[in-house]
Amino acid sequence: MTDPANTLVREDRVHTSLYTDPALFDAEMDRIFKNSWVWVAHASELPGPNTFKTAHVGVEPVIVTRDKAGEVHVLLNRCRHRAASVCEKKKGKASVFVCPYHGWSYAPDGALRMVPHVKGYPADFDKDEFPLLSLRTESYNGMIYATFRDDIMPLEEWLGPARKWIDLFMKQGAGFGVKALGEHKFRFPGNWKIQLENTTDAYHFPIVHKTFLDSLDEETEDVFDVLGQGGWVEDLGNGHSVMVMIPDLIDLEDNLDAPIPERFAALADELRADGHEEALVRKVVRAVGGTGFNLNMFPNIACSMAFFRVLRPVSVDETEIQHIAIGMDGGPAPANRMRLRLHEHFQGPMGFGTPDDAEGWERVQRGAQAGQDVWIMVNRGVAAPDGVAEPGHNAGDVSSETGMRAAYRMWKRMMEA
Ligand code: FES
Ligand SMILES: [Fe+2]
Repeated sequence: MTDPANTLVREDRVHTSLYTDPALFDAEMDRIFKNSWVWVAHASELPGPNTFKTAHVGVEPVIVTRDKAGEVHVLLNRCRHRAASVCEKKKGKASVFVCPYHGWSYAPDGALRMVPHVKGYPADFDKDEFPLLSLRTESYNGMIYATFRDDIMPLEEWLGPARKWIDLFMKQGAGFGVKALGEHKFRFPGNWKIQLENTTDAYHFPIVHKTFLDSLDEETEDVFDVLGQGGWVEDLGNGHSVMVMIPDLIDLEDNLDAPIPERFAALADELRADGHEEALVRKVVRAVGGTGFNLNMFPNIACSMAFFRVLRPVSVDETEIQHIAIGMDGGPAPANRMRLRLHEHFQGPMGFGTPDDAEGWERVQRGAQAGQDVWIMVNRGVAAPDGVAEPGHNAGDVSSETGMRAAYRMWKRMMEA
C-alpha cells in the first residue's frame, strides 16, 4: 500500500475504500489503534480492590484490573504458556486469573504466580519472565486509557482541550461522582469509522430520529430541536470533537433556578418527598436529563448526553458498539432509575433512537459497495459561528461536518506517520 492517507483522504472528502478495503483495516489496527491512547474503562467499572473487566485495544483482547493496592493495570488477555485467553468474564472480582488450559495462574498486576507440576521445567525456570503483558495505562477524571506505546505523549496532552468537556460531562454525577449503571452491546455490519462519524453528526438527527421526536411531549421535543438552538461543532485537536446541540445544557450547574421541565416534575416531587433540599433536587434533576453535547474522542470513545459509547472495530465491515448508561454514584435511587428509563427510551435495544442509527450505518456500508470510486463527502458547513467555540479552534454550525473532518485529519496524520 503506497501512502494511502495522502491519496484517500482530502480535506472535504474521503475515499469509499476507507469503509471497504480489508488491507486498509489491517493498516489502521497497526498504525492507529497501536499508536494511540485507547479508552478501556470507566473507574466505576472497577469499584474496589481485585476487580476487573475485559475489553479490547483495537482487535487485541485485554483485561483491565484493579490490584489489591488499588492500582489499575491493562493486561493482554493471553496466557504466556500457549496463548489461551485467561479471562472470558465481562467483569467481576478476582484475586487470581487461572488459565483454563493448563492452570498457570496470574495476579491482578499480571505476575505469574503458580505453574502446576513445575518439575517438568528446568530448575532455573523463572516465573518473573512470564507475566501477562502489560500496557501503559493512564487515566483522566475516571476515564481509563491504555496504549501499546511507551513513547507517545501523556494522556492529558493527548486529550488536550477535550479535558474541559470531560469535566463538564462528569457534572452528571451531581456531586455524587459518576457510575456505570449498566450496559448493552450490539454489532452492526459496517466499518468503525461510520460510527465514529455519527456522534458529532447532528444533520441526521431530525431525519433518522423522527420516531424518537414523535415519542416526546411537546416541551421535550422543543429541547431536542437540535438544529434550531444555536449549537455548534468544534474541532478539539488530535481527532477529537464536540457537538453542542443544546447550549443551555453545557454546564449542568448553570441556571439551576430555571423552571423544571414537565417530564421531570414527578421526579422532583419524589425527591422532595424523600426529604432532599430544593437545591439538591434541582441539581439532581438537571443531571438526570444529561448534557446538551456529544464529545467524540478519537479513536474509540464518545460521551453522549447520558452515556458512554464505545466502538470496537471487529473487521473492515463489522463493528461492535457498547452503550454504558451512567448515573450518580450513591445518588438518589429514583434519579438513577429515571436515568435508566431515559437511556432505554433512546439508546436501549428496544429504544426509539439507536436502532434507527444502526440502520443508517448499515445502509452506508451497503451503499458503499456501489460505485467504489465515488467519494464520501464531509464538506458540510465550513463557515465558523460567532463567538462560541474557543478562539483558534475550527468550528462550524451544529449540523456541519467539522467533527468528521477533524477525525479524518487525525486518521491521515496517523496513517502517514
Ligand atoms: S495455555 Fe495457559 S496454561 Fe497452558
Ligand atoms: Fe443518531
